[in-house]
Amino acid sequence: MNTKIKILAFVLLLSMLGCNHKEKKDAILLTPSLKNEFKANFLIGTALSENQILEKDTMEIALISHEYNSITPENIMKSMFIHPQKDTFNFKITDKYVAFGEKYNMFIHGHTLIWHSQLSSWFSELKDSTAMANAMKNHIKTIVGRYKDKMGSWDVVNEALNEDGTLRKSVFLDVLGEDYLTLAFKWAGEADPNTDLYYNDYNMTYPEKRQGANKLIKQLQEKGIKIDGVGMQGHWGLERPSLDDIEQSIINYAALGIKVAITELDINVLPSPWDLVGADVNQNFESDEKMNPYKNGLPDSVQTKFTKRYKDIFNLFLKHQDKISRITFWGVGDGQSWLNDWPIEGRTNYPLLFDRKLQPKPAYNAIFNLNPLNN
Ligand code: XIL
Repeated sequence: MNTKIKILAFVLLLSMLGCNHKEKKDAILLTPSLKNEFKANFLIGTALSENQILEKDTMEIALISHEYNSITPENIMKSMFIHPQKDTFNFKITDKYVAFGEKYNMFIHGHTLIWHSQLSSWFSELKDSTAMANAMKNHIKTIVGRYKDKMGSWDVVNEALNEDGTLRKSVFLDVLGEDYLTLAFKWAGEADPNTDLYYNDYNMTYPEKRQGANKLIKQLQEKGIKIDGVGMQGHWGLERPSLDDIEQSIINYAALGIKVAITELDINVLPSPWDLVGADVNQNFESDEKMNPYKNGLPDSVQTKFTKRYKDIFNLFLKHQDKISRITFWGVGDGQSWLNDWPIEGRTNYPLLFDRKLQPKPAYNAIFNLNPLNN
């Protein structure tokens, strides 16, 4: 896309502010899109909230179907929602999620089968290995089986590793030992042999965690268990992880002969209470004015840094496009982002490509035109 068209498109989007719904929808359809810009490179996805799946805001849905060709459910497929009691599954909204993907002809990803967080509480009551194995098998086979041949991929296991590369303590590890990983992938593969099976985690660029992930993946491969990809969540900051660490990780995971996906991309611009990047959803800190510096808007200097960060990251993704299957943003507009409430509640964060009014930010424009092959 040349710069003139890009500017025209941007002006068009800005001018939509004063239009009625019908005019806005038409305007969106004329503009260039992320999915078209990167169609030769990788899928471009977003996480969908429950309201988005229910198509509550038609303007937002027009934007989503225009920009993205892949979707991930932000919460509704987590065990506490989809399998709230041992003998009760709740497929009402998950069926709608899959129907959404089919309606808009999108790649449909499942998130997530086995995770220690947002875990249905009844799992923690299972103390013997047969009961736990049966429960896990039923959970995986019922859910994956229901959407057989509809899902492009699944996060089979989410966040099984500590930052030092050892296995995270969880009910699954406690009761079944390391075998739970093998069993989870085995059962998912049996329930739908045609879907891609992923291991997904945050801080996947940390050298020690990377080694742990390597070990975990190799062990599955040596046992002949199907694993197709690794998801690097991509909850990153303005400075860290370094581009070099991101690049080395992509190269390293791809060398295992599996696909690499960036599964939950967002760039946090706010101060971190640990001075670290990461995404352990169980950690929360007290609110403090100093920790919420941009509640009235993002200063230009930070916006510029943010834009450059997205541009640098996308340049890297394009360099390694042969290894990358999908880039998924963890939400559409800044107002949706979980980073407004994690790890400190009630902050104003700016991590995504669209602002709170769903207008494209400078970072959106900056990632167009990066690939000479596309232009
Ligand atoms: C987050 C959701 O965005 C929030 O709405 C929810 O309250 C907590 O979980 N790693 C993951 C995602 O794998 O599922 C998490 O999503 C963010 C961190």
